[in-house]
Amino acid sequence: MEVKGICQAHSLLYEAYAMSLVAGGKLVEAHEVFQLGISKNAEPLDRLKKMHGMFLNHLAAVAQNAAADPKSDMSSRSLNQQPTLVNPWSMPTIDDLLKKMDTNIRKYNGYCRSSKVYSGKVSLSSLKNSSRNKIVELGGCKYQIKGCSGLGGFAQVYKAYNDSNPDDVLALKIQKPAFPWEFYMYRQLDKRIPDVERSSFGFAHKVHIFADLSVLVCDYLSHGTLQDAINSNLVTHKLMEEVLCIYYTIEMLRMLETLHSVGIIHGDFKPDNLLVRYAREELTEASFITRSGPWRDQGLCLVDWGRGIDLSLFPADTRFIGDCRTSGFRCVEMQDNQPWKYQVCILSSNHSKYHAKCLANVTNHSISHDFSVMQG
Ligand SMILES: Nc1ncnc2c1ncn2[C@@H]1O[C@H](COP(=O)(O)OP(=O)(O)OP(=O)(O)O)[C@@H](O)[C@H]1O
Ligand SMILES: [Mg+2]
Repeated sequence: MEVKGICQAHSLLYEAYAMSLVAGGKLVEAHEVFQLGISKNAEPLDRLKKMHGMFLNHLAAVAQNAAADPKSDMSSRSLNQQPTLVNPWSMPTIDDLLKKMDTNIRKYNGYCRSSKVYSGKVSLSSLKNSSRNKIVELGGCKYQIKGCSGLGGFAQVYKAYNDSNPDDVLALKIQKPAFPWEFYMYRQLDKRIPDVERSSFGFAHKVHIFADLSVLVCDYLSHGTLQDAINSNLVTHKLMEEVLCIYYTIEMLRMLETLHSVGIIHGDFKPDNLLVRYAREELTEASFITRSGPWRDQGLCLVDWGRGIDLSLFPADTRFIGDCRTSGFRCVEMQDNQPWKYQVCILSSNHSKYHAKCLANVTNHSISHDFSVMQG
């Protein structure tokens, strides 16, 4: 059909051919057929991309099962030259990793687990702003709720005073169902990030895990998110100062460099997960270059590690599949159903214009792998 040019522009051809190859166990060839159809923009293209995505998910599951089964000969068959494909965010993957590391995680400082459902006096599922000043008791600690900082799909974040002490402010992230993974990632940060860089990545004191929910207890940062900073400029139609945009862009690139160099991927790098940090003392130009003194407290702080990936848990050749489904923050590879790795959180500089609207663009396109073009 290719020689005669029949149906080359129809995605059904590639889909059907790929499926017949899958049925014959020729997974690599099937992958190539999908790629060929996509490269030719065969229509309907969306459907072809969707089918390719489903195929990659299937491939990852096959590869994982094969790795788990020592009798399997998959490793010596059609997959042997292919990188391992894993969806790092699928619940079976996360559950499997947590199960394997369970004994170690139990020893982590601040890990508190109960097999019962949460039965405290204050219902955590129904905490709202009206719960101000209510006391939540967890594992012998009393947290006085002072307000809600964020409401996500699965989690709510509250500002709270530890033991009603206004000088000891914490963030409580309540998640349903319980999700210990984020705490695991925080402990990896503690182990791997050098002290001088540690304040750029958020800190978790404890996690309380129940059968129905979990509460992550973190340091509270009071200056809002980078998204808030962008929005406040947009509202007043003012432009964020060029030098500030450059500063934040450099800060983000430096943070990613630090993270990736220790085998950690954040996986959800976006302005509402970046909290703003301000130094209390006066900043001087002299200590800027060395990032010493008060400059250490100035900058950004990356939170929300629920999609974090610990690369040390996967073979070195692993490529990831899986879609963050966060509109505006899907990397090029995700959009094309291609495997990805660091691309998921690498900043694209080619949209960086030096004002607030475009800082939003910088971060909105935070995921393009084009790292090199810096246009004004
Ligand atoms: N340590 C903190 N200090 C202050 N505010 C915080 C803190 N952690 C989170 N927040 C606020 O709560 C919001 C939601 O937190 P987080 O991103 O961890 O939750 P999420 O539900 O996973 O979010 P998402 O919407 O990205 O899924 C953040 O965007 C931020 O505004
Ligand atoms: Mg978030």
